Amino acid sequence: MKPFVYVTRKVPDEIYERLADKYNVEMWTEEDKAVPRSILLEKAAKADALLTVISDAVDEVLFSQAGQLKVVANMAVGFDNIDLEAASRHGVSICNTPDVLTDTTADLTFALLLATARRMMEAAEFVKDGEWTSWAPMMLVGTDVHHKKIGIVGMGKIGTAVAKRAAGFDMEILYHNRNRHEVAEEMLGAQYCTFDELLAEADFVVCLAPLNQDTRGLFQREHFQKMKNDAIFINASRGPIINEQALIEALTAGEIAAAGLDVFDKEPINADHPFLTMKNVVALPHIGSASKETRMAMMGTCCDNIEAVFEGRHPKTLVNKDVLQF
Ligand code: GLV
Ligand code: GLV
Repeated sequence: MKPFVYVTRKVPDEIYERLADKYNVEMWTEEDKAVPRSILLEKAAKADALLTVISDAVDEVLFSQAGQLKVVANMAVGFDNIDLEAASRHGVSICNTPDVLTDTTADLTFALLLATARRMMEAAEFVKDGEWTSWAPMMLVGTDVHHKKIGIVGMGKIGTAVAKRAAGFDMEILYHNRNRHEVAEEMLGAQYCTFDELLAEADFVVCLAPLNQDTRGLFQREHFQKMKNDAIFINASRGPIINEQALIEALTAGEIAAAGLDVFDKEPINADHPFLTMKNVVALPHIGSASKETRMAMMGTCCDNIEAVFEGRHPKTLVNKDVLQF
């Protein structure tokens, strides 16, 4: 019997066909809706492999009902939707898609920073609304990016790629991370600082840390209060790292100037979310890695990992390496 692979979102034909060539494949095909939990559990109960996305909760309940499951290929660099400890206990390999999305996500992060600083969304709306009647000295003026200080919280691969872009804009680069990043210090002149120093000094505070028990709720009201009043906050990693209510209050009170957000506490956000009424907030629908090339490469990595497990090899981007001991 061929292994059964369940794909939780509609993927392009060439990815589906690559899997269907070797395995029995079923896929959730509604384009604009995540697979309902009950269907995910029902399919997982029969599956040898799952190809999942970040909106799927892959937890103890799922693993305990999925007796044949060997591998979960999560189409993301983040894996906070997956209970890794439970996965290892149940002998399931968890794989992510690092590396292929690094530059693409750094591009989007920097674009979001530029768009927020230079009020590009507001300006585009202004033109569309027919409000552009003349050139005026202080019309839609934003703030400069070049030669300012960027403070990167989470200096992993994406953080380093953002630092590289910042260096091209002649920015001074501060970072805070669990570990020192000697390469970034030497190559880009990045300066390590404490979280509080970074908050106090940066003109742009950019969050690129992964979501885990150490980073959940990392940014509270007091942290926004420590930032400069004209600081701009950018988040392109995970919403729950921020206390969203605290950010709303800080923006409303003028404690920081603006925010560019690609991620939110609960996604998707509704049209009546307070952020969407604020002119100084640029909100994007979690599109950090969303280029055609990169999304295809991420799905390719998922297929590579599934194939590796069924062919008895170690998957290249295994996250829970302790599963090999079980
Ligand atoms: C997307 O957010 C990812 O983790 O790749
Ligand atoms: C603006 O368009 C300028 O020429 O300065």
